Formats: sequence, C-alpha cells, structure tokens
Amino acid sequence: SGVVTYDEGYGNTGSCESKITFIDGEKGILRYRGYPIEEIAENSNFVEAAYLTIYGELPKADELRNYSRRILRGASIHEGMKNLFNGFPTNAHPMVILSALLNTLGSYYPELATNDRQKDLDNFDDAAATLISKVRTVAAMSYRMKHGLPFIYPKPKLSYCANFLHMMFSEPYNDYVLHDDVVNALDLIFLLHADHEQNCSTSTVRMVASGGANLFASVSAGVCALWGPLHGGANMAVVKMLQDIHASGDDGTDFIEKAKTGETRLMGFGHRVYKNYDPRAKILGEAAERVFAALNINDPLLDIARRLETKAREDDYFVSRNLYPNVDFYSGIILQAIGLPLDMFTVIFAIGRMPGWIANWKELAESGARIHRPRQIYQGSTQRPYVKMEAR
Ligand code: CMC
Repeated sequence: SGVVTYDEGYGNTGSCESKITFIDGEKGILRYRGYPIEEIAENSNFVEAAYLTIYGELPKADELRNYSRRILRGASIHEGMKNLFNGFPTNAHPMVILSALLNTLGSYYPELATNDRQKDLDNFDDAAATLISKVRTVAAMSYRMKHGLPFIYPKPKLSYCANFLHMMFSEPYNDYVLHDDVVNALDLIFLLHADHEQNCSTSTVRMVASGGANLFASVSAGVCALWGPLHGGANMAVVKMLQDIHASGDDGTDFIEKAKTGETRLMGFGHRVYKNYDPRAKILGEAAERVFAALNINDPLLDIARRLETKAREDDYFVSRNLYPNVDFYSGIILQAIGLPLDMFTVIFAIGRMPGWIANWKELAESGARIHRPRQIYQGSTQRPYVKMEAR
C-alpha cells in the first residue's frame, strides 16, 4: 500500500521471524535457543554456546569434540594476509583492521564466499568455523601490529580463549602464563555476548545478507555497526568514564548529576529492550567480584562502578526511565582487570558476537527472505526548478 508507517529507530518494528534468541525486556530474561542465559553461563563455554546459537541444539559429546577440533585447528591465517597489516597506519583502530580483514578473509576462500546463496549455504559449516576461529587471529594480530610486536602463531592445543590470549601476549621467546581465572573470565564474556537478537550490528548483518552478500562480507559490516559508542563501543566508554571520574576526584556524585541534565550519559546504563536489569550485567557484576578476588586486584574503578550503580538505582531520573546497568557496565572493568588493552574491548565484543551474526545470517539465508528495503517519510523540499550556476 502507499501508506508508510514511521517507527523512529525501529523501536517497534519486527524485521524478521527468528528462533535464535529470546528476550523479555520487562522481566530481564535472555535465552539462547530457549536455554536461560544463567544456566548457559554456569554450565557451558563459549564454543558450545556458539554451536548452540548457530545450530539450534546443544551438541552431543562427539559433535562438540569435532566442532571444537575444527575451530582449534583453524586458527592460522594465510601467510599472505600478514602483508595486509603493513598497509594500515600503525595507529589504525583494531576495529578498522578487523572489519577490513574479515571481508578480505572471504577472498582467500573464494568457494566459501561466492554471493551465490545456494553455494554459500552448502559451504556454510566451513565458512562459519573459519570465521569463529580466525577472527581471534586477526584480532590479536591487529593488536601486535599496533604495538610493534611480532605476530605470534596460534597453538592448536590451546582452548579457544587461551589461544587468543597466547596470540595477544606471548613473545617468540617467552610464552604468556595462562591463568585459569583469566581464561574463564574471558570465556564468560564471549559467551554472554554470543547473541542478542536484532541489535544494531546483527540487523546490519541481516540487511547486508538480504541483498545476497556472503557471510564474510555480512559480518564485516556487522563489525562496523558494532564499533559505535552506543553499541559495542560502550564497554570502552565505560572504562574511560570511570577513569575520568577517578582522575577528577569525584566519587560519582557529580557525574550522576551531569548524566541527569543530559550533559553526558552514564555509559553502560540503559537499553532499548531491557527495562529491567540486563541479566548479563548481573552475571558479570558477580564475575567481577570473583575475578578481582582471584587475581587479588583492588581496583578503585570497580568501587566507583558500584557506587554509580547504587546511586543511579536510588535516583528518580534513572528509576523512572528504567535505566539499569547493561552488559557493557561490568565487562570493561573485567577486561581491564585481566590485562586486555582498552582499544581491544570492542574487538572482544565482536569475537563474542560472531556466533550470533553467523546464526542470523544462516537463518536469513535459509528463510529466502526478500531483500530488506525500508521506506522513509520524505521531508525535503517539494519540486522546484533547477537553478543555473550564474543565478545561485
Ligand atoms: N544516561 C543518562 N540518560 C540516559 C541514558 C544514559 N545511559 N540512557 C538513556 N537515557 C535517557 C535519555 O536521555 C532519555 O531521556 P528523556 O526521555 O528524558 O529524553 C531516556 O533515557 C530514553 O533514552 P533513549 O536514548 O531514547 O533510549 P534508546 O533506547 O534510544 O537508547 C541506549 C538505548 C543503550 C543507546 C542508551 O540507553 C544509551 O545511550 N546508553 C549508554 C550507552 C550504552 O551503554 N550502550 C550499550 C548498550 S547495551 C549493549 C550494546 O548494544 O552494545
């Protein structure tokens, strides 16, 4: 029909039918394929959660073994890809490198990235495992390049997270000492990010895919969408905010007042869908205590975060707007505590979200959905005659 409904920011538009992730924002419920996030966080790990998200069922023991093996073995990238890193300025943001190289990765596997929907679906398993495995390698290499450090090759024997930490922090002559609490905390962060239904980056992946683009191109667009501070960039923004508050000598009181006037935002607070506590923030808030205790860290930033949370939850401005901590509020503090550099935080989010992007690409591709093509409400000028240069 000719009538176009305007829904600013798609707040009330269902863009697809999906069986992957369920959110009840009023009640603070999140489930992957029907399983509550709390139970997955307690019993599972990232690779299993990735399998569940993508294939819809918890893997049986041999399925998980085969899948893990495939991912663990696939971490190397083509030697030729190393040259690509030389073309970036050394201060290039790792998210720039990540999006560019994930798209490029597809061109190293032309049979997996054909833009022929049926062929791309036929080779989906390979493409998905390739991306989940190699996204770590590209991420770690972008960090090494930025800091002028030699690239570290993956070790197929290490677990998913351990291998990432190894590629990030080992030296050619000295292996990074892996600490179980660090590995587990990172695994938990990846797991909690695995999918979150039609957020900005996942919708972007679906949008790009709906035109028939291959999986590599689609997730590379997802990385770009994730980069912004209102989305995946928030975990970085939270830590910067806490550092600034700490440096200014404020205990959080002044900052809360500024957030209420709109002068600034309380980063890591608020969510389009959750009008209750983000269940991921609850899990991470508790994990933060555990990690800090296990690593014997006394970080004033955690105290400031706790104080901000208490103040905000007693304040009518935040209460009346249903503003609660979201996943980014505590993830950044944990990432910092386990030694990950600030400019890698959003990259970590991207690694974690990869299964969700992939699962949504698959669901869209299999559904045969038509190209996504929203309409608009035109507000520009009505017809007017062209004005020649000399008459302007
Ligand atoms: N601090 C202060 N005020 C806020 C905040 C905040 N963090 N978030 C929302 N508000 C206010 C906003 O000013 C508005 O007030 P009013 O009705 O008086 O104009 C009201 O709450 C509704 O906000 P909105 O911007 O219309 O809500 P939205 O659904 O468009 O935005 C959001 C959601 C997450 C972008 C927003 O809450 C925000 O900017 N939060 C901070 C950034 C952040 O933490 N992002 C991570 C989101 S979760 C994971 C992810 O996607 O990466």
